[in-house]
Amino acid sequence: MMVQSHCYCYFFCLISLLLHTLASPMLRHCLHDQRDTLLEFKDEFPTLQYNSKVNGRSLSSWNMTSDCCSWEEVTCDTKSGKVISLVLDFFYLNNSLKTNSSLFKLQHLRILSLSGCKLYGEVPSSLGNLSHLTDLVLRHNKLVGQFPASVGNLTQLTRLELSDNNFSGKLPHDMSGYQNLDYFDVRENSFSGPFPTSLFKIPSLEFVLLGSNHFKGPMDFGNASSTSKLYYLSLSHNQFNGLIPESTCEFPQLGDLDLKYNNFIGSIPRCISKLDRLIDIDFSNNKLEGEVPGCLRRLTSVRLSHNSFSSFGKSWEVLNDEFTLMWILDLNSNSFRGQVPNWICKISLLLLLDFSNNSFNGSIPTCLRNCRHLKALILRNNSLSGTLPEIFVNATMLLSLDVSGNQLEGKFPKSLVSCESLEYLNVEGNRIKDNLIPLVDFSATFKRPQP
Ligand SMILES: *[C@@H]1O[C@H](CO)[C@@H](O)[C@H](O)[C@H]1NC(C)=O
Ligand SMILES: *[C@@H]1O[C@H](CO)[C@@H](O)[C@H](O)[C@H]1NC(C)=O
Ligand SMILES: *[C@@H]1O[C@H](CO)[C@@H](O)[C@H](O)[C@H]1NC(C)=O
Ligand SMILES: *[C@@H]1O[C@H](CO)[C@@H](O)[C@H](O)[C@H]1NC(C)=O
Ligand SMILES: *[C@@H]1O[C@H](CO)[C@@H](O)[C@H](O)[C@H]1NC(C)=O
Ligand SMILES: *[C@@H]1O[C@H](CO)[C@@H](O)[C@H](O)[C@H]1NC(C)=O
Ligand SMILES: *[C@@H]1O[C@H](CO)[C@@H](O)[C@H](O)[C@H]1NC(C)=O
Ligand SMILES: *[C@@H]1O[C@H](CO)[C@@H](O)[C@H](O)[C@H]1NC(C)=O
Ligand SMILES: *[C@@H]1O[C@H](CO)[C@@H](O)[C@H](O)[C@H]1NC(C)=O
Ligand SMILES: *[C@@H]1O[C@H](CO)[C@@H](O)[C@H](O)[C@H]1NC(C)=O
Ligand SMILES: *[C@@H]1O[C@H](CO)[C@@H](O)[C@H](O)[C@H]1NC(C)=O
Repeated sequence: MMVQSHCYCYFFCLISLLLHTLASPMLRHCLHDQRDTLLEFKDEFPTLQYNSKVNGRSLSSWNMTSDCCSWEEVTCDTKSGKVISLVLDFFYLNNSLKTNSSLFKLQHLRILSLSGCKLYGEVPSSLGNLSHLTDLVLRHNKLVGQFPASVGNLTQLTRLELSDNNFSGKLPHDMSGYQNLDYFDVRENSFSGPFPTSLFKIPSLEFVLLGSNHFKGPMDFGNASSTSKLYYLSLSHNQFNGLIPESTCEFPQLGDLDLKYNNFIGSIPRCISKLDRLIDIDFSNNKLEGEVPGCLRRLTSVRLSHNSFSSFGKSWEVLNDEFTLMWILDLNSNSFRGQVPNWICKISLLLLLDFSNNSFNGSIPTCLRNCRHLKALILRNNSLSGTLPEIFVNATMLLSLDVSGNQLEGKFPKSLVSCESLEYLNVEGNRIKDNLIPLVDFSATFKRPQP
């Protein structure tokens, strides 16, 4: 009986141990080939040899006596023990990536991030060996050459960041192979030529950042699918020209559209009213003209400076709840004339209103006192007349007021003198009487905003 019970316990314990082992994840330790490959990779960089700390980090844990799956910046797959992630952002590598680098033997890598590592030279074609990569981040290095053709092999990519290098040449014509791509960032390089529309056929794509390259020619987004997830699109600081294409309006999820510093001409397409998720546009510094469509009144930020816009669509005058969400309205350096419209005062959350360098005339609307959240009111260089009204009673957040270069006259408003938040004031080039004693001393304390 004793023996039996003992045996029973032994058996039971064994079973429970086995069950426990099966239930918990099998934490595999570092595979030797993975360890050796990582150490070889480290050896390729003289700057990593001394294990000196940069930004509080070093690779001192990368040694033979510890499990490579516990090494800093390394992640292994818990089942296979293969290295699946290597994140060496801002480690000073100061080298080029060699074709035979051990890096390209880590074939199970899903995440490779080498931002700000001072890498230079071209990206070797052997990168194409890393066919499981989902995230490739080579941002902020000194890499050159064409868009790496081998990146074409990386069809699992969801995130591709090549920004802030000096890659050049055209992008591949057919980009549709990246069926899972979500984030595409090639900003701040020297890419040129027309932009391949094939990219926009990728249904998973959400963020596209092409700013500060030498892309040119008319843009066409092709026939985007109605299931497109595109949310953020920036073409800024390129040489795109022609009309803003109607195909822009085919991205149902578009929230943020940045076209600033290009050569777009013509007017904003009417179809933009279809984009009911849009919250932020920046079309500054183009050659756009005509009317600012009324549907833009429901955005939070509308930046159209340095164009030739001359009028507002009718529906700006309609008050509704959407309209009160706007924070920024920047129409600096356009061709507006006539009165500052009164509907401005209905935008009760407005933080920045910039109407400078236009030909607005008549008086500054007194109802502007309703815009209590204003931080900057810039009406510089227009033809405004009358007095500077007492609109600052409740403007407790006002930081910057510039009404210089108009034909204002009369007294300086009392409410402005008591406005404690004010940091920048410019009333030059008017006929405002500086009859308030404090003004002279007071204005000397105003700082100009940093450029
Ligand atoms: C190896 O790395 C471990 C940490 O992972 C560390 O405790 C140990 O000191 C290192 N050994 C050497 C010789 O640097
Ligand atoms: C960085 O690499 C360059 C070129 O190989 C070399 O001349 C320079 O000394 C290196 N700088 C440091 C700090 O290692
Ligand atoms: C890579 O090739 C270079 C010659 O191109 C050679 O000097 C170096 O030892 C090789 N490195 C490895 C890790 O095989
Ligand atoms: C690419 O992977 C193969 C194994 O499939 C390996 O033999 C080869 O060395 C790798 N190429 C590079 C450049 O690491
Ligand atoms: C890229 O893929 C092509 C075709 O699938 C293959 O022939 C080529 O060897 C791959 N390149 C690399 C570097 O793996
Ligand atoms: C970037 O590359 C282009 C040509 O490829 C070259 O003309 C230019 O000088 C480079 N810019 C920098 C900052 O290295
Ligand atoms: C878009 O589709 C229409 C027909 O549905 C076709 O005529 C046109 O060429 C297509 N445009 C692009 C850029 O694919
Ligand atoms: C005033 O604005 C006009 C455009 O309306 C512009 O041409 C002119 O240069 C501006 N003057 C100053 C002094 O900013
Ligand atoms: C008005 O236009 C002039 C000339 O284009 C420019 O120098 C100035 O910066 C503009 N004013 C503002 C407030 O942008
Ligand atoms: C403002 O300018 C318009 C023409 O743009 C003119 O018809 C109107 O009389 C001007 N109003 C004032 C008050 O100067
Ligand atoms: C300022 O705000 C107070 C209370 O919030 C309100 O009663 C008053 O009418 C406002 N003054 C002006 C000039 O709008």
